Amino acid sequence: MDPEGFWGDIAGHFYWRKRWDKVLEWNFRDPKVEWFIGGRLNITENCLDRHLGSLGNKPAIIWEPNDPEEHHRVLTYRELHTKVVQFANVLKNNGVQKGDRVCLYMGMVPELAIAVLACARIGAIHSVIFGGFSAQSIADRLMDAQAEYVITCDGAYRGNKEIPLKSVIDDALVQCRFVKRVIVLTRTRTPVSMIKGRDVWWEDEIKKVETMGNPDCPAEEMDSEDPLFILYTSGSTGKPKGVVHTCAGYMVYTNYTFVNTFQYEPGDIHFCTADIGWITGHSYIVYGPLSAGATTLLFEGIPTWPDAGRFWEVVDKYKVNVLYTAPTAIRSLMGFGLGPLQGKQLSSLKVLGTVGEPINEEAWHWYNENIGKGRCPIVDTWWQTETGGVLISNMAGVTPAKPSYATLPMPGVQPVLVDENGKEITGNNVSGNLCIRFPWPSIIRTTYGDHERCRTNYFSAYENMYFTGDGCYRDEEGNYRITGRVDDVLNVSGHRIGTAEVENAINMHAGVVESAVVGYPHDIKGQGIYCFVIFQGSHGDENLNRQDITQTVSRIIGPIAKPDKIQFVPGLPKTRSGKIMRRILRKIAEGELENLGDTSTLLDPAVVDEIKKGRL
Ligand code: WTA
Repeated sequence: MDPEGFWGDIAGHFYWRKRWDKVLEWNFRDPKVEWFIGGRLNITENCLDRHLGSLGNKPAIIWEPNDPEEHHRVLTYRELHTKVVQFANVLKNNGVQKGDRVCLYMGMVPELAIAVLACARIGAIHSVIFGGFSAQSIADRLMDAQAEYVITCDGAYRGNKEIPLKSVIDDALVQCRFVKRVIVLTRTRTPVSMIKGRDVWWEDEIKKVETMGNPDCPAEEMDSEDPLFILYTSGSTGKPKGVVHTCAGYMVYTNYTFVNTFQYEPGDIHFCTADIGWITGHSYIVYGPLSAGATTLLFEGIPTWPDAGRFWEVVDKYKVNVLYTAPTAIRSLMGFGLGPLQGKQLSSLKVLGTVGEPINEEAWHWYNENIGKGRCPIVDTWWQTETGGVLISNMAGVTPAKPSYATLPMPGVQPVLVDENGKEITGNNVSGNLCIRFPWPSIIRTTYGDHERCRTNYFSAYENMYFTGDGCYRDEEGNYRITGRVDDVLNVSGHRIGTAEVENAINMHAGVVESAVVGYPHDIKGQGIYCFVIFQGSHGDENLNRQDITQTVSRIIGPIAKPDKIQFVPGLPKTRSGKIMRRILRKIAEGELENLGDTSTLLDPAVVDEIKKGRL
C-alpha cells in the first residue's frame, strides 16, 4: 500500500497554481498533519473557474425555496462565478482580508453558498453557524474565533416558521463589540434594526460593486495548509470546539469521496438535504459537488411542510438522481405512512445515501423499498466534522450494502478497533472503540486557538491513532457497523450535542442545584435528551418548572438542544469522590431498572431507588 502515491495521483486532477513538493508529513503525537506541502491553489478556482469553459451554462446550484409557490432559482456555473466574484469584492470593500474570520449565520439560500465561496476566494476563513443556535452560542463562537465580520439575513423561513436571524445576531453582538461589520441579506423582510457604522445591506453593497463596473476578483493564492474554514462541533466538555480544515487536503478528499461514494456521473442532480451549517452541507452540498462540476440542489425548507411529501415532490420536480439524507428524516417520514408517496414517481433516483447517525434496519428497508423501489443502492456513510469527508461507506453499486452497516473503509483509510487499554482488537466478529491509524487528506488539523485541545481530544487516548469517539462492531466479513458514541456526546436527530453543554445550560437556571444529562433511545430522533435535575425553585408546579428549564436551554444553546424529559430528583448517584455515576442514570433513562451493576461504591445507594420510582 502506498497512500502517498495514491493521493498524489488523485491530487493531480485539480488545478494548482503551483504543484506540491511533498505529498505528506505527519505525526499523531503533536499532532502535525500536512498534505500536499508547498502546493499553491484556491479551492474556488477548482469549484468554479476551471469549469467555465466546458460547463459554464450548466446549472451549478438549483435552489428550491421553502414555499413551493415561490419561484425556484437556478444558477449556472457562470452565474455562480459572477456572484461569488461580486460578493468577494463586497467583502474586500468592507475590509475583510486573507486570514480574517467571517461568521455566517444565514438560512438555506443560494447567497449562503455564495458567501462561503466568496470567503474562500479571498482567503478569509468562514465559520458557518447553524440557524438553530441561540445568541449565546453565537457569541461564544464569535469570541472563540475572534470573528470581526458577520453575514446574516433579516430572517429565515423554515416550514411555517420565520426565524428572526438578524435579531438573534443583535443579541449576540451585545457581548461582541469587536465585530466591525454585519452584512444583512434581505430574505423575509422581517423588521430589523440596522446599527449605524456597523450594519450594511447585502443588496446595497452589491450595487456599489456594480457601480464600480463589476471588477474581477482574482482568487487569492493559498498555501495547501492555509485554513479554509472553522466549524464548531460539540465534544465531551462544555465548550464547543472549532474544527479547522485546510485548503488542499479538504478539497481533494471531499471531491474524491463525492465522486466515488455516490458514483457521480456527469449530469447527475445531487440532493443533499443537510443544512450548510453542518459539515455534511459544507462537504456534500458545496465543495464536493461543485469541485466535481455537478449540479447541487439546495433546499430551504423542511421535509414535512407543507406536507410530508415535500422531499418526494422535490425529487420529481428536478429529476433528482442522488438523494442523501439523515436516518432521522427517514424515520419521521415513515411515520406518515405511504400516503405522501401517492402520485410520486421517484423514477429519476439512482442512488440513496444516509449520514449522521446509525440507521436501524426497519428504516433502511423502508427507504430501500418505498423510495429506492429496490433498485437504488443505499450508501450508509460514516464520518464526522473532524474527518471532513466520508471515511467508511459502501460505494454505490460497486461494493455491496448491508443494512445498518457502513461496511468498508474508503481506499486509503485504515480503521482499527481498540479495547479500553488501547490494545488493538484484531480478527472479525469483534467490538471496540473505533480509531484510524493513518491520516487521510481532510483529517482535522487543529482546534482553533487551542492545539493542545485537539491533541488531548483526538490523539491522546490511544497512541499514534486518531480516536473517533465512536463504538464499532466488525462482522465476520470485516464490515464495520457504528454502534454510537462512547463519550458523553449525544446524537439527537443527527445533531451532535454534548451532555456537559446541556448540563451547563440547565444549571444556569436559578432554581437548579445540579443536573445530569444522558441520552435514551428515541424512535424518531435516534437519541432523546433525558435530564435528571435537583431543583429548589420557587413555584411548586413541576410542569412550569420544566418549561422554564427548557426555555433556559433554548436561550443558552438553542432550540436544537431542548430536553425531551426532565425528571426532578432528590439527589444524584455519586461515588464517594463526588463523581456522578452516569452509567446508572443511562440505564434508568433507557428503562433498564434491574441489573444496574455495582451500586455499593455509591455515597447514598438509596437515592437510586428514589430515581427509579420517579422515572418518566
Ligand atoms: C455519527 C456528521 C452511524 C457518529 C457527518 C459520528 C454515524 C457523529 C454515521 C459525527 C453513520 C455519522 N452511522 N453513525 N453513517 N455518520 N455518525 O460531526 O457518532 O455531525 O461520530 O458529522 O455522527 O457527527 P458530525
